[in-house]
Amino acid sequence: MNPTGARVVHQGDGVAWLRDTTLPPDHAVVTSLPDHSEVPLMGFEGWRRWFVDVAELACRQVADDAVAVFYQTDVKHDGRWIDKAYLVSRGAEAAGSATLWHKVVCRVPPGSISFGRPAYTHILCFSRSLRLAPGQSSPDVLPRLGEMPWSRAMGADACDAVCSFLLAHTACRTVVDPFCGLGTVLAVANRRGMDGVGVELSRRRASQARKLVLP
Ligand SMILES: C[S@@+](CC[C@H](N)C(=O)[O-])C[C@H]1O[C@@H](n2cnc3c(N)ncnc32)[C@H](O)[C@@H]1O
Repeated sequence: MNPTGARVVHQGDGVAWLRDTTLPPDHAVVTSLPDHSEVPLMGFEGWRRWFVDVAELACRQVADDAVAVFYQTDVKHDGRWIDKAYLVSRGAEAAGSATLWHKVVCRVPPGSISFGRPAYTHILCFSRSLRLAPGQSSPDVLPRLGEMPWSRAMGADACDAVCSFLLAHTACRTVVDPFCGLGTVLAVANRRGMDGVGVELSRRRASQARKLVLP
């Protein structure tokens, strides 16, 4: 494996790309599906349905023994708490995938009150066939997100923990993010010697994602 992996970023619709792409067994999806505020034309209920459907699609498009990983931060909307772990789990169940793990990443120190975004982010991993023995466990609570290249980015430390899991417990050597934003997980995967494939609707962000390097 190269010390620095290769990276390809397509500009376009990640849903259409996923539908048209059969991913080989050494590819894993690691993504953060857009929040309703990023796709306002759908309306809130439309976004909820879309979110579950896209989580299902991502779980279906990975190979049987491969994994789909979702990094999602809940939101508060109209006085309601929107649990995105529940929504991706519904999509995964519809795809016939089982949860392999569910991690929580602290966004602020435990015990703090957060008035805007919740104090933690979920990372969930699903597979149709892969199963983990108890000895293959990794930490469930991660103390920090790490560097975030922009406010909606994944945290680099959290991405690194996902890459460690992929390298140790799966055949994945290419990380696929169909909603890659600035490409945080692709840059972290490259740093770990894995290849990265991204799709991003925004032309500007797709261009930035081709170049992002994390220290
Ligand atoms: C939560 S952000 C992802 C951030 C990314 N993980 C990072 O670290 O920069 C979601 C991204 O999905 C993009 N997006 C929204 N709809 C999309 C679509 N249909 N296809 C591809 N990208 C889309 C948005 O432009 C945004 O950059």
